[in-house]
Amino acid sequence: MTRPLLLAMPGNDAMAAKLAGQLDTDVGTLECHIFPDGETLPRFAEDLVGRRVILVCTLARPNDKILPLLFAAAAARELGATQVGLVAPYLSYMRQDRRFHPGEAITSRYFAALLSRAFDWLVTIDPHLHRYKSLSEIYAVPAVAERAEPLLGDWIARNVKDPFLIGPDEESRQWVELVARICGAEYAVMTKQRLGDRAVRIVPEQMNRLAGKTPVLLDDIISSGKTMLETLRLLKLQGAKAAVAVAIHGVFADDADELIRACGATLVTSNTVPHPTNAIDVSRLLARAITALDQKMAFEH
Ligand code: R5P
Repeated sequence: MTRPLLLAMPGNDAMAAKLAGQLDTDVGTLECHIFPDGETLPRFAEDLVGRRVILVCTLARPNDKILPLLFAAAAARELGATQVGLVAPYLSYMRQDRRFHPGEAITSRYFAALLSRAFDWLVTIDPHLHRYKSLSEIYAVPAVAERAEPLLGDWIARNVKDPFLIGPDEESRQWVELVARICGAEYAVMTKQRLGDRAVRIVPEQMNRLAGKTPVLLDDIISSGKTMLETLRLLKLQGAKAAVAVAIHGVFADDADELIRACGATLVTSNTVPHPTNAIDVSRLLARAITALDQKMAFEH
């Protein structure tokens, strides 16, 4: 069986290089030309006839990325690829998982439909599964969600003295409970109300158990940063020690990362979205899932 061909969409070279070091693949070159008016033109350097193609594209700030990605997938097929897989370390459009207000679109479904039409399989890390229990509820192709919690727990155990984990909202409970168990720490989960895109209210909770410990705020995503910032503010009011803010996906809209650090918190993310705070490498989780899926799908073809 020929080896698959791994290709990085723009901005994904670092993750692709890490994956290439762990996979039995060839590495190809995919150029994405941008015309003066913003239209894009993907161009593959290698012959794709009979190849299994794997595209690496994290999907933070997805609107600019999705068209070039869909074009690349379509072109790969037209140029003879027998299989096209997607490695999206961060999978966007997962939070709109129901119609919260009349007339709204349920974008998670439409995004899943777009990707399911373009790709044969998908691998990601900790998608925001809240009301959906599994990606298979909306993705029509095999979609594997690897979990970064063991790596987070390991990082906290090695780097934080006396950690006390704090989940800022109920949605974070699934991550916090598991990570707390892995690093043997106590934890609490707060209650959050979202008031708008950049406004949240968190119910203040007196946390006597925190005394003398290092607060570790843990969430799957930091977007506007308001969830982390409000939790940090409440902790400060209680006289807590300087906190560590850990997120799997550091999307960082506006200047969220700067604001969190300005609160005196140490900020740590995984490399699902490239950022200077990346301290937790998830590439081996992705590599494991890619190998399993690529082989399973190749045999089924
Ligand atoms: C909530 O649904 C997520 O788990 C995060 O808490 C949320 O995405 C963080 O958003 P922001 O940084 O905009 O407060």
